[in-house]
Amino acid sequence: MAHVRGDEANGPMIITDPQHMHRDVLAARSRGRRVGFVPTMGALHAGHVSLVKRAAAECDDTVVSIFVNPTQFGPGEDFTRYPRTLDADIAAVAGCGVTWIFAPAADAIYPNGWATRVVVDGPARRFEGELRPGHFSGVATVVCRLFMAVPADVAYFGAKDWQQTLVVKRMVRDLGVPVEIAVCPTIREPDGLAMSSRNAYLLADERSRATAIHESLMLAERAWFAGDDIAAIEHAMRSHLAARGVAVDYAAIVDRESLEPLSSPVANAIAIIAGRLGTTRLIDNHPLPTRG
Ligand code: PAJ
Repeated sequence: MAHVRGDEANGPMIITDPQHMHRDVLAARSRGRRVGFVPTMGALHAGHVSLVKRAAAECDDTVVSIFVNPTQFGPGEDFTRYPRTLDADIAAVAGCGVTWIFAPAADAIYPNGWATRVVVDGPARRFEGELRPGHFSGVATVVCRLFMAVPADVAYFGAKDWQQTLVVKRMVRDLGVPVEIAVCPTIREPDGLAMSSRNAYLLADERSRATAIHESLMLAERAWFAGDDIAAIEHAMRSHLAARGVAVDYAAIVDRESLEPLSSPVANAIAIIAGRLGTTRLIDNHPLPTRG
């Protein structure tokens, strides 16, 4: 299935070996080419594709990695049922200007005897960090490992996973990893539901109730501009979610950089939600513009 060259005519070149990937990216950069990188776990949808298109528009070469990272799933989470759709993923980015797809096997990322983890504190502490112990350490570890294999100029992440973008940016800053981080807007279904590989798990009835998450974010924005206080807005979000049968893990308005309580009641805010429908857990967020 591997093509000999990555170009528009032949499609992307599929690489599984991290050293091969590293060599090719360094060779491109030494020819003066700007290399963009989009890390993913596959099951690609229009949200992923928007990142890929932005990378391809801004860079000379683009790498998309596809790796379902075991270390970011907790016990009892969906690692084994997570969709693995490599052929469809290759088709999804065909024609998007991708040079390489990096699809390593687990033992290429985590070699026998692997004993190193990257642990980020600060923005990793609350919310997803609290509810999914070890999750962000798994993310930081794999992203760091992927950055070693793919020494790109710039890496693209989705605002949909807002806390993840903060964790990755902090890791890059603290370890001095020489890569720029670009954060791209959340792509949504026509009814507002944020695109996610996990939406595929939703039963029909859960899918229709899942719109309550985006509705709650919009309700928060209206209440925010109406001048309501934070506690009242959080209460309104939780009530709307509960009324639609979404079990609320959190529905909060916090500082968008630290995820700590707001120091100003008017600026730098973001509304964040995690909710469960049946066995499916979804997250979403919406930055709140400065209010008068
Ligand atoms: P994954 O969930 O596959 O997402 C890959 C990238 O796509 C992430 O940066 C994510 O924020 C972005 N993305 C997902 N849904 C999006 C949407 N609706 N709109 C815009 N961007 C969206 O996030 C991961 O994988 C992993 O944690 C990873 C960073 C690859 C490390 O394993």
